[in-house]
Amino acid sequence: KKIVIPSLSFFQDELKGEGVVKSRRTLGELAGIFENQDAYSQLPLDQLAYEVYSYLPEREGTPGGLYFGITQLYPGKVGDEYFMTKGHFHQQEDRSEYYWGLEGEGMLILMDRERNTWAERMMPGSLHYIPGGVAHRVANTGNSVLSFAACWPSDAGHNYEEIANKGFSARLVEVDGTPKLR
Ligand code: 6PG
Ligand code: NI
Repeated sequence: KKIVIPSLSFFQDELKGEGVVKSRRTLGELAGIFENQDAYSQLPLDQLAYEVYSYLPEREGTPGGLYFGITQLYPGKVGDEYFMTKGHFHQQEDRSEYYWGLEGEGMLILMDRERNTWAERMMPGSLHYIPGGVAHRVANTGNSVLSFAACWPSDAGHNYEEIANKGFSARLVEVDGTPKLR
């Protein structure tokens, strides 16, 4: 059986390795996550916000398995907020995850179960441990593509609903040219 190791080459040549799934999210699919509805309504709904290449070597839910993915988040703003990922808790609450920066500049926004929100700067080489029970979302604070890698348990799953309904307790906005949590 051919073994395919995912790497950045997946993006350079659009190679589709076995077990690699590519998903994309447009601005239209991010409805409701930005504060400034007027600014949001001016943007084309079919504009690509980010793409995720996931390497899923085993079936979802397999205990002990690990998934790997690379997210490419495009630069842009909606009002004073940056383009960002939808954000989620894991379905299995205690499942943790690693993120690490590959390219570009961003912020990882984290929120625990008590709704305390904080952020970590992402840059090439930055490493971020996301403990279980902590919601995570990434914002692109730069002018170029932000690309980061992730590794998470195959049985983590995604709970998007809570963030879609209640959001994070703070928003990352640009104030005088720099990102601030508000
Ligand atoms: C995961 C990871 C990561 C994430 C993407 C897109 O648990 O799978 O956190 O792969 O899904 O960066 O972000 P959203 O899933 O929040 O859209
Ligand atoms: Ni996750």
